[in-house]
Amino acid sequence: MSAPGTVLVTGAAGFIGSTLTDRLLAEGRRVVGLDSFDPFYPEDQKLRNLEKAEASGAFRLLRGDIRNGADLDRALASEPIGAIVHLAALAGVRPSLERPGDYSDVNVLGSTRVFDAAVRAGVPHVVFGSSSSVYGERSEGPFRESDSVERPISPYAATKRAGELVAHTFHHIHGLSVTCARIFTAFGPRQRPDLAIRKFADLMLAGEPIPVFGDGSAVRDFTFVDDLVGGLVAALDRPLGFALLNFGAGRTISVNEVIAQLESSLGVRARVEHLPRQPGDVTRTWADITRARAELGYEPTTSFEEGVAHFTAWLRERA
Ligand SMILES: NC(=O)c1ccc[n+]([C@@H]2O[C@H](COP(=O)([O-])OP(=O)(O)OC[C@H]3O[C@@H](n4cnc5c(N)ncnc54)[C@H](O)[C@@H]3O)[C@@H](O)[C@H]2O)c1
Repeated sequence: MSAPGTVLVTGAAGFIGSTLTDRLLAEGRRVVGLDSFDPFYPEDQKLRNLEKAEASGAFRLLRGDIRNGADLDRALASEPIGAIVHLAALAGVRPSLERPGDYSDVNVLGSTRVFDAAVRAGVPHVVFGSSSSVYGERSEGPFRESDSVERPISPYAATKRAGELVAHTFHHIHGLSVTCARIFTAFGPRQRPDLAIRKFADLMLAGEPIPVFGDGSAVRDFTFVDDLVGGLVAALDRPLGFALLNFGAGRTISVNEVIAQLESSLGVRARVEHLPRQPGDVTRTWADITRARAELGYEPTTSFEEGVAHFTAWLRERA
């Protein structure tokens, strides 16, 4: 069942936000997008992300900042909003070590303002883009929502956990329904240029060496963006009170396997430059998706190979 009313997507011009927006529009829903076009990566890519949505009569883009209550009120007053998917953030682990204050400002203060504006506007349900990084440095897996998350190892991870805690207070005090989607490394068309698969592919196609931090044995639960978006839509349509849910693929892929898959998909040999491991980077992420499956029927279906093929096809198309 679809949630009634228009969906407000914060961070709609980004990688995940624009993919979600296209999915919602394809399902016949109306979307208001709020995005500040933060300069973390070029505005040009974000505008391209929105080309399809902009061609739809059911989409409206507002330029605005989630830290600014007036921008949020404007977005929420523009038409009846039934639910919010809150994805606007400063994303990325490594840059958060350089700009911890900015990360807190956008991800904690900004998220607080989003939840507050939702309550004031009478919007009953928010899906919040949290992160697998909240699980910290772990030697075992898979990670379950009931696991301890008291030891984040980067400012980014700490701001995402803080966002979950703030969400819970709004649920407790105001009855706001919030589903915190703990997203495990998304990849696919429109991927952010700072993320491993995209960064490696761009460098390989340019004939440049790719930096690998550590020996390449670090693993991630890489989640194809369409599978993730399916989970976000299910979360949007089924308010659960307050919920923490993992959205991953439920399996791990090493950095070395990523490189081998890109070599085969791009038909280019990689030149690897090994660098020391970076502080803030975890050695593994791995989602137990039992809870999202049970609560929402979440079911990722795209193999890593298929996902990389979709991604490299997009990369070639846009060149
Ligand atoms: N991509 C991943 O693998 C991943 C993993 C875990 C969690 N997440 C979370 O999912 C969300 C989306 O990630 P993404 O990869 O699409 O990132 P992205 O950077 O492509 O998208 C984020 C968008 O938010 C916008 N934004 C930033 N600050 C803003 C502000 N103050 N006000 C309004 N808009 C602002 C940016 O301009 C950008 O378009 C983020 O919250 C991120 O932390 C992503």
